[in-house]
Amino acid sequence: MKKDKKFYRDSLKELKPYDPHELPYKIKLNANENPYGLPEEIIEEILRKAKNLEYSRYPNANSVKLSEIVSSFWGLTRDNIVIGNGSDELIDYLIKAFSEKGRRIITTAPSFAMYKIYSIINGSTFVQIPLSQSNFSLNEDKVLEEAKKEDSSIVFIAYPNAPTGNYFAEDKIIKIIEESGCLVVVDEAYYEFGEKTFVPLISQYDNLVILRTFSKAYSLASLRVGYLLSNPEIINEVRKVKSPFNVNTFSQLAAQAVFENKEILKDSIEKIIKERERLINRINELPSFKAHPSRTNFVLVEVGSKENTDLVYNNLLKQGILVQTVSDPAFSTSRYFLRITVGNKEENDILIKGLENVSKNRPLTRLIYKL
Ligand SMILES: Cc1ncc(COP(=O)(O)O)c(C=O)c1O
Repeated sequence: MKKDKKFYRDSLKELKPYDPHELPYKIKLNANENPYGLPEEIIEEILRKAKNLEYSRYPNANSVKLSEIVSSFWGLTRDNIVIGNGSDELIDYLIKAFSEKGRRIITTAPSFAMYKIYSIINGSTFVQIPLSQSNFSLNEDKVLEEAKKEDSSIVFIAYPNAPTGNYFAEDKIIKIIEESGCLVVVDEAYYEFGEKTFVPLISQYDNLVILRTFSKAYSLASLRVGYLLSNPEIINEVRKVKSPFNVNTFSQLAAQAVFENKEILKDSIEKIIKERERLINRINELPSFKAHPSRTNFVLVEVGSKENTDLVYNNLLKQGILVQTVSDPAFSTSRYFLRITVGNKEENDILIKGLENVSKNRPLTRLIYKL
């Protein structure tokens, strides 16, 4: 079909449909999900309560009960929160509400892929500021240089950053909040694995938004629930662009049950953190791999060249282990990585064996960036 018709958008020409990498696997370590799943007692509570839902009625439009439970936990009110169909949806809403065609959105390189995708979809200009090559730290002066330009609208900062797994210095982020003149979105998707947060600063700044998700530590990726916290003025703007019934009734109920029982999840979070450290140490014992430190539930593993990265990815896939390749030319055209979710102990042991097999069968040249 020819695409010279006037109804096609030029700005979508280069964009490819999102590839979820839904390949056959035995062990899934590519999407940063919680390998332990929801505890049985929470599943039972959800299913028991689900019997009494009004399936013929539209969902509560603003997820009022869930909003109350979550916002009050953070010492806030319903006027400080929007619940989304995953935090992905909230990224889209923020761009729709605060950016528009031709306005600039700024983030780091590398960073979470959906900032770019939703920027392109909404016609915004996407600008990336590379992190330091030596330790993935934030160049706040460069971010500010871009953010202070008249047509800049939003700065997205993942905290900890994905896929690098590190926290940026708090004072650098505060400087960006104070001086950029932009809406600053601090995406705390992996909060539970490091527990550093900007939530207490919401009342202090009128341009700060915090993003959270139920998809990672809270084991609820399948039901797509995330939330954002901010001041009532920002919340009101987001509600203007929100789909009326964006979060379905079942997801609202399940997220409520998870949030109310989140103490039970502490055990799996602790196990993931322990396993993360073990995995990093074990990977760093292998030649040809460098696992970077992480404050999340994934590990960024540097493999060297693109060829070697593809080789390791394909070789693991043949062994039934699904991981994720990550590279971002805006960060480097010579550094290639695998992003590997921390699995349970058994899965991690199989992964380590898998990596050993790859380097045994075809020794990889050491092209890893020297710190
Ligand atoms: C930094 C970051 N933000 C947001 C998300 C999206 O999460 P959700 O499942 O809530 O859309 C992810 C998921 O990988 C992420 O890594």
